[in-house]
Amino acid sequence: MRMPESGHNAGGRGEEKAWLERALSGKIPGHIGIIMDGNGRWAQKRGLPRAEGHRAGVKTLRRCLPALTNLGVKCCTFFAFSTENWKRPRAEVNFLMNLILEYASSDVSELIEHGVRLLPLGRWRELPQAVVTALDRIAFQTRDCASLTAYVAINYGGRQEIVDAALRMAQENAGLISSDLVKEADFARFLYASSMPDVDLLVRTSGEQRISNFLLWQSAYAELVFTDVLWPDFGPVDIYKAVVEFQGRDRRFGHTGRGKG
Ligand code: FPP
Repeated sequence: MRMPESGHNAGGRGEEKAWLERALSGKIPGHIGIIMDGNGRWAQKRGLPRAEGHRAGVKTLRRCLPALTNLGVKCCTFFAFSTENWKRPRAEVNFLMNLILEYASSDVSELIEHGVRLLPLGRWRELPQAVVTALDRIAFQTRDCASLTAYVAINYGGRQEIVDAALRMAQENAGLISSDLVKEADFARFLYASSMPDVDLLVRTSGEQRISNFLLWQSAYAELVFTDVLWPDFGPVDIYKAVVEFQGRDRRFGHTGRGKG
């Protein structure tokens, strides 16, 4: 379902509070996946370099975390850099790496204040050493935060994750693998974050209606919400609206009637 355009500047505090209360009156998704899209178009619309769109995108990420904790969401995953994003111009890739480094090196008091544990997800250890060190540090500094676990998918590809899990499982169980022994839950243990719950709600901004290799395994039964809002314009109201949209869905998980999920 495509949501109407709104944007975080629309409405104001009153509207934000009203949508939060409405969302809080229903079931809250356990895990929200977010594909942050539209940074480049946001910048181009303003005659700015694409990099400014990514910079504004980091601000959006910052204002979304408290919105998620307001709702009591326990887990979220933001798609920051895909394994396919290396195909972008070198200058843009470098800019994104620096932005991630800047973010991971910045003051963590905001995260700690909101109880947000930040964890990188993907083949992030293959990134430049300074980025790896900063990501390791931020994960360590926020390790005791218990309100929300926020994964940031960096150098992440859903197919790659499944291939990596298969390899890890084969290495750990050399000679012992058989179809009797390997059930879905056994396999899921080898994904990048073995304790990550399935995605309940997957949100993509900017009007694109694709999954783009994001959390393929975990999103098997996710409710998909697409909004026309560009990521830099996205904000708490848009999250609350997406949750309200999620609450109106009939999740059957393959069953026939209502309320099986
Ligand atoms: C998609 O917009 C966005 C990205 C590929 C990068 C997302 C990254 C950020 C929001 C900032 C970095 C994150 C952290 C954690 C510091 P696009 O460039 O594809 O937009 P377009 O489709 O309009 O060109």
